[in-house]
Amino acid sequence: MSNDAVAILISGRGSNMIALVERARGYRVALVASDRPEAAGLAWAARHGLPTWSSSPRGIGKAAYEEQLDAALRDAGVGTIALAGYMRLLSDDFVARWRGRIVNIHPSLLPKYKGLETHGRAIAAGDAEAGCSVHIVTEELDGGAVLGQSRVPILPGDDADALATRVLAAEHLLYPRILSEFVMTPFDRVRDMALTLPETEPRGDGPEFLVAGQPFVRCEDGAVQVRSADAGWTAIDLGGDVDWALVEDRIARSWELTAPTHLLEAGGR
Ligand code: GRF
Repeated sequence: MSNDAVAILISGRGSNMIALVERARGYRVALVASDRPEAAGLAWAARHGLPTWSSSPRGIGKAAYEEQLDAALRDAGVGTIALAGYMRLLSDDFVARWRGRIVNIHPSLLPKYKGLETHGRAIAAGDAEAGCSVHIVTEELDGGAVLGQSRVPILPGDDADALATRVLAAEHLLYPRILSEFVMTPFDRVRDMALTLPETEPRGDGPEFLVAGQPFVRCEDGAVQVRSADAGWTAIDLGGDVDWALVEDRIARSWELTAPTHLLEAGGR
């Protein structure tokens, strides 16, 4: 079992599942599972060579169904569960077994409009904007901590379908990004940011990253060290609530301060 092995649970077409597969970064899809064997998304996953699993609670009951699901997830070595249009409520017992490792995408700006018909309710309330949220799944429906949100405008004349289409497009961008942030360790994220920059490489498999053979990022004692114009190396603590946009900017700045002129002239980062 590893946190970066993700199972995606669907009940229908699975457009979010497809986005999670196609935009995967820092995680791998170990299983696509469904409570509906006829779900269109399952067929897509199988066609794309992904392991799939399905069973229906009909005739066996929720507890037996969840036992089967739990066994399938553990057999696949899953460490994180992403609900993507999975329309069946998980029992408190199941949530407790996977405490803190289940996330969900919900088509509203939580905590507003928990439950169903979110778009119609936002329009009826005269809201100017709507959106989607990725949150941790707890025993409270749509009630867990929000990990990320994306906002879209509600336009004059919008009906629920038009708004749903606009929100769904935002979901397909938000969910893969938030899932990779959720699954990746702080070191994984630093590594990902450093190696996205041109002409970079790790020194061995260690916590140091080079450009043209010169170090521009070091990871040590839960902190990342970067170069700064005026102070040589400075450390940014990676414990607690990290401002990842700042970390990304400082890593890129350190690259600029270290990279040879020809790389900067070639357009740099
Ligand atoms: C999405 O809008 C999601 O937010 C909600 O159900 C819908 C599922 O769509 N939970 P899809 O099956 O991922 O296309």
